[in-house]
Parts: sequence; structure tokens; C-alpha cells
Amino acid sequence: MTRFTVNGQPVHYRLDPATPLLWALRDASNLTGTKYGCGVGQCGACTVHVDGVAQRSCQLPIGGIEGSFVTTIEALSRDRGHPVQQAWVAESVPQCGYCQSGMIMAASALLERNRNPSDAEIDAAITNICRCGTYPRIRRAIRRAAA
Ligand code: FES
Repeated sequence: MTRFTVNGQPVHYRLDPATPLLWALRDASNLTGTKYGCGVGQCGACTVHVDGVAQRSCQLPIGGIEGSFVTTIEALSRDRGHPVQQAWVAESVPQCGYCQSGMIMAASALLERNRNPSDAEIDAAITNICRCGTYPRIRRAIRRAAA
């Protein structure tokens, strides 16, 4: 049994410890805001916070995060009130929207450790892929949230 905390709630998964966190969240906890894109750690659609750090959940076996605190997009804020979420709306960032929860989780983790990132720092930190090419709006939204 693997135990850790998801969105403030203790979870006890009776799953193979090698199960990627992504699938435990989606299939066992029904937290489907965390998306599957590539499954190989490239796209970032599956980004969540683990102990406050943005991580690609498809690459994290649940057995390796015993005792950790996981936050998904569902619990980033109440009523979508996180400054990054508000900035996302104000800048109309999403196009198809599929990658956006991972983007928002990556952006919010960045702003936790750097309150005023430069464009270069944003580009270095946000390595998630958006097939619609919303990167200019993502940058604007992060700068807005940082202001
Ligand atoms: Fe995890 Fe693409 S699904 S990085």
C-alpha cells in the first residue's frame, strides 16, 4: 500500500508501487484535470506539484513519493482564484486547452520560487509543449500573474 497526500486528503492506494502517479490520480482518484499526453516525460500535460515542485506525474512511480504532498489542478485554488488562473482567463490563453492544466501547474510552481521571472527564466522553466502554440499568451499571463 502506498500512502501520501493528494489535495490535502490522505490516500492509500492498493496499486503496484510502479504505477505512475498520473494513472493513480486519474483512475483511482478520478482527478482527471491532470492530462495524459506523451507518457514519456516530454509534453508536461501531466504536471502536478509534489511537495511544491512541478513534476511530470507520468514519470513518478507512486512507490517513490511515499509521504509526499501532491497538489493537482483541482486544488490549486478555490473557485479558480489563483493569480495564474485569473491571468490565464484575462489573457485568453487556451486554444484547444488540453495542455493548459499542466501549463498552469508549471507556471504556478515557477512563481512560487521566482516572483518576477524574466522571459528567459519563463522559457527555461516552462518546458511543457502546447501544440496550438499559445506560448506568447502563456508568457503574458505569467507576467500578469507576477505583477
Ligand atoms: Fe507526462 Fe507527457 S504525459 S510528460
